Amino acid sequence: MAAPSASSAPSGLPFHPWDPAFVADPYPAYAELRARGRVLYYEPSDQWLVPHHADVSALLRDRRLGRTYQHRFTHEDFGRTPPPPEHEPFHVLNDHGMLDLEPPDHTRIRRLVSKAFTPRTVERLKPYVHRLAKDLVTALVEAGGGDLLTDVAEPLPVAVIAEMLGIPESDRSQLRPWSADICGMYELNPSEETARRAVRASVEFSDYLRELIAARRREPGDDLISGLIAAHDEGDRLTEQEMISTAVLLLNAGHEATVNATVNGWWALFRNPDQLAALRADHSLIPSAVEELMRYDTPLQLFERWVLDEIEIDDTTIPRGAEIAMLFGSANHDPEVFTDPGRLDLTRRDNPHISFSAGIHYCIGAPLARIELAASMAALLERAPALTLAAEPERKPNFVIRGLKGLSVAVG
Ligand code: HEM
Repeated sequence: MAAPSASSAPSGLPFHPWDPAFVADPYPAYAELRARGRVLYYEPSDQWLVPHHADVSALLRDRRLGRTYQHRFTHEDFGRTPPPPEHEPFHVLNDHGMLDLEPPDHTRIRRLVSKAFTPRTVERLKPYVHRLAKDLVTALVEAGGGDLLTDVAEPLPVAVIAEMLGIPESDRSQLRPWSADICGMYELNPSEETARRAVRASVEFSDYLRELIAARRREPGDDLISGLIAAHDEGDRLTEQEMISTAVLLLNAGHEATVNATVNGWWALFRNPDQLAALRADHSLIPSAVEELMRYDTPLQLFERWVLDEIEIDDTTIPRGAEIAMLFGSANHDPEVFTDPGRLDLTRRDNPHISFSAGIHYCIGAPLARIELAASMAALLERAPALTLAAEPERKPNFVIRGLKGLSVAVG
């Protein structure tokens, strides 16, 4: 990807991912983008924006696109400059995780990981997740309120994924800073400082996991790392690097979006008191509320794909080597699919949002995320039935990973 700065020449499009005012509420601009067309070239990031639900949904399943091109082409083939050697630790880590692989490597690794990360493993965790959510909310209530982000939204998924992987409790406080530093690289055009932090975190996180994997090899436990070590398929196994990359991916993907979905969701509820009242009156709405909140304020706003073989969208030819940016937040507000998309409707039944993606990279953690989001919502509704917003929250400046800096709440 070209690396223009935030101050690049205006593109002429109502798309300003580096502008806090745009990030605060991108949805009106998305309506304009959808009206402008099905595919729009955006010069500052040298990408083709795709804002309609039908197109995003189809492209996610289109094998002419890929999350990487390196399985078929060189950087030079694609007219791209290879990343500088000093960024290597980040790329080694990232490029061996299934999210940034394409078949056949993606198929092989996802199959092996699925042997350890099974629906049964996740279902078995349900009572633990609910107990943890209740404990966290009880502490918040006893304190009379606090920050929903640091008191509930964050500790819940971090503890769950750390527990699954068998990360000792004493080491868990390092996970969130490492993860945040690595995730900085997933924003559009990351700065050199962001890259430096990501590289440092990649080295430290990898070293930590290498030691943990060695310990589990010596003494296997009932955890996911031991499961990844044991997983094999027709004589195939994960390499040590693949195991490290998988563990980091599960840890990062396993909490960043869930934390944000929780606080974005509660902020949306506070801004829509009629909906919050309806939910308080009828907890059976929790499953549809979780889906609707994920649609209404989409936690991950944009995903990219490389064009591996030329495609055509609405008479526009997109050549091999180009990059597509699919606007998930826009797709989730497309009136061709969602009736009255700007309205939060917790009873919405027909809700094919794409917040968990689609196609081969469909979120492997979606069932776990749904359990976590429902558990914290249930605990908050039951134990803090008069929860109110204590102060207007501030948005994080990031566009792709959409979140709040905190969510201050009071218990009535
Ligand atoms: C609200 C929470 C979550 C959201 C919104 C979310 C969203 C996503 C999306 C959009 C993708 C695919 C990206 C693409 O197509 O390019 C993805 C992939 C993935 N997610 Fe999630 N996720 C969430 C929670 C989780 C959890 C809890 C875990 C694991 C514990 C997890 C693990 C993964 C993994 C491993 C992949 C890569 C799958 C592959 O490439 O085959 N996610 N997630």
